[in-house]
Amino acid sequence: MNTGTILRAGVVGHPVKHSRSPIIHGYWLEQFGINGRYDRYDVKPEDFSHFVKTLSEQGLQGVNVTIPHKEAAFLALDEATDRARRLKAANTLWFENGKLWGDNTDSIGFLANLDQGHPGWDINAKSALILGAGGAARAIIAGLQERNIEKITIVNRTRERAEELALMSGGQVAVAEWSKLSFQLESADLVVNTTSLGMSGQPDLDLSLDPLGKNALVTDIVYVPLETNLLKQARLRGNPVVDGLGMLLHQAVPGFEHWFGKRPVVTDELRYLVEDHITGIRA
Ligand code: ATR
Repeated sequence: MNTGTILRAGVVGHPVKHSRSPIIHGYWLEQFGINGRYDRYDVKPEDFSHFVKTLSEQGLQGVNVTIPHKEAAFLALDEATDRARRLKAANTLWFENGKLWGDNTDSIGFLANLDQGHPGWDINAKSALILGAGGAARAIIAGLQERNIEKITIVNRTRERAEELALMSGGQVAVAEWSKLSFQLESADLVVNTTSLGMSGQPDLDLSLDPLGKNALVTDIVYVPLETNLLKQARLRGNPVVDGLGMLLHQAVPGFEHWFGKRPVVTDELRYLVEDHITGIRA
């Protein structure tokens, strides 16, 4: 263990007490033997601007930003990556030559999770169906566009939000009615749930996958529970599935590298560790 200055980073959100990011970064810090800390910062929206302005006074190398601050974080940056600019939202902040930089690593995390969980998934995927139109959907659509998925269709309970997101995403993004969701399944090569439906404490997504082709990949950004009813239904009928935990793990990689100077790897051991926390085996 090195005995020099402690390098510090963390996650800022409101609420933030359920964030699993400290487990992930804590694991990597220990693996590399880095003298560092990663803590949770619960900051109300009205205090966020002050928090960001005083990051270096607080001794922080940078932070992850979660709900509800990702848009405010983007506005507070000196410099942003193209990806963050496109999404107008940032979840990873760091200093470079005295300037506050920001990126949005949610789309990186989403793509890396599918690449690891179902390698080659994008080779024949022409059509993606996105359920939901919030911030997560926005990042995922940007990721799918990077991989040149030809047809992306958004369905959302509130249609206007889907229309807004389609407009903002540009390109070939279509909108369909939530009530016609089942019809959209027929032509989908990839189905992504970005809504909170299926999360523990929330209602389930009430959808029969009967019209879906057997090779279509089904994924969920919900990871508590690890296997949502949507994923279970897909698995039982033989579809390939990728759960949402890997997105959380992979989105953390770039931040760790910026703050602590080493590029970490998402290992099975890390996944099991976070799974144990989710299932309550570890407190
Ligand atoms: P995030 O930024 O994490 O994506 P969000 O902006 O709150 O979070 O988005 C949550 C998504 O879940 C939205 O698409 C929301 O639909 P609305 O735009 O209609 O609110 C969707 N969602 C939440 N509860 C839902 C429900 N009971 N039925 C259908 N969709 C729901």
